[in-house]
Amino acid sequence: MDKRATWSGQLAFVLAAAASAIGLGNLWRFPYLAAQYGGGMFIAIYLVLVMTLGFTLMVTEIAVGRKTHQAPLTAYSLLNRKWGFVGLFGTIIPLLIVPYYCVIGGWVIYYLKAYAQMAFTGVNMMGEGAVDSGAFFSSFISAPFAPFGYGLVFIVACAVVIVLGVKNGIEKSNLVMMPILFLMAIAISIYVVFLPGSGAGLKYYLVPNLDCISTPDGKFSIVLLAKTVLGAMGQMFYSLSLAMGIMITYGSYMKKSDSIGKCVRRIELFDTLVALIAGLMIIPVVYIFAVKSGMDVHEAMKAGPSLMFITLPKVFATLGGAGPWVGMSFFLLVVFAAATSAISLMESCVASACDLLKLERKVSAFFITAIIMFLSVFSALGYGVWGHVKMHVFPGDAGMPFLDYFDFMTNSVLMPLVAIATCIFIGWVMGPRFVIDECEADGHTMRGKAFYSFMVKYLAPALMVLLLISEICSGLKLGGWSI
Ligand code: PFF
Repeated sequence: MDKRATWSGQLAFVLAAAASAIGLGNLWRFPYLAAQYGGGMFIAIYLVLVMTLGFTLMVTEIAVGRKTHQAPLTAYSLLNRKWGFVGLFGTIIPLLIVPYYCVIGGWVIYYLKAYAQMAFTGVNMMGEGAVDSGAFFSSFISAPFAPFGYGLVFIVACAVVIVLGVKNGIEKSNLVMMPILFLMAIAISIYVVFLPGSGAGLKYYLVPNLDCISTPDGKFSIVLLAKTVLGAMGQMFYSLSLAMGIMITYGSYMKKSDSIGKCVRRIELFDTLVALIAGLMIIPVVYIFAVKSGMDVHEAMKAGPSLMFITLPKVFATLGGAGPWVGMSFFLLVVFAAATSAISLMESCVASACDLLKLERKVSAFFITAIIMFLSVFSALGYGVWGHVKMHVFPGDAGMPFLDYFDFMTNSVLMPLVAIATCIFIGWVMGPRFVIDECEADGHTMRGKAFYSFMVKYLAPALMVLLLISEICSGLKLGGWSI
């Protein structure tokens, strides 16, 4: 393989990593969690975690990538053969995530098409008032071919960007998609904030509410506080694209002259800003809708597919003539957010194959895309033709559809495990000095070195173990520890 590609500058790297971090997690997970876990209280806890735990994990991954100039598959084994398995898992994770993430990307394209049609021709595929948006969604995801077909369009679009390379593909596409995403999010949130009656929704979102850490009789509960912290931690971990090999890969294209610490602070700032703006876009409008239609606000705010593909279309339908335009802008923004994240996941796999097998980018992209297309069939058809097939984690559990299973195995099990292994490897085998030296390369100074060492050796792995337990409990609905 020829000389390793590099970003054209610090800004290009920050934009690419932020584009990876800003994804469906910011749009359909953060607003819901913030609303559910005490508004401003959750936001404050989240911010503290991003600046401490998130900072530690992200700096570590980027430093491993930049030091080794390798994607995860070969980066760990280059540092220590015995720890190569961490890199192997760091490569398997994105390979399992991209197929289902692209299937969801396909759903978003379908909705974008429906809203564009509504805005430009007045034809409403969802039925008047989108009252049937639940049926519209379920008939689409259970169709025999459509979910796969739309997912395929999404996969091919991302693959084209990858083939074009780091500078001509990833950097350039980010330069188009990210500013549009940001401006649209700001425009929609301004529109929503000025809607009549949005004040109560804003209060619900932003004012700290102690109910989430109090028992029904109003007493403070440490268990409920722990659940809130774990909820914020899971979200931070998911949102910052940690433990999926991405930051190692993107770090491997970084120049020595750029400061890792500064870049990480900026990536975190962008990611958090978009999450906060997503809350402004979604919460007030869903709140107004829930109150008007006599629904339970918590229920209406439920995260994930139902919020984005069922509730929001109903909400957009109440906005009159502006509805189709708001809907179209919103889904365009979601397509961009999902695409930039999927591109980073795909790049991580493609770069790993290039580094291990010394393949050319095009050849590696071709094989990886073929594997992704194959795996996406399961998630695409898992709510329809293969709806009867349930995947089990333990024999005798309730079982889940393919997409939920891949999501659970990666986000709730493998990713926390990789993060724990990374902390142990860097904290105890290589020593924190390894990362500190990389951060201080080329004359930069790293702030809070003692704090970093303490975090990576003790606190971060301990917190990750708690997260792993609580994620498994909630995924398998075991109660107790679940969030
Ligand atoms: N950080 C991105 C998001 O918030 O959506 C990307 C991502 C996270 C992709 C987790 C996939 C995933 F499982």
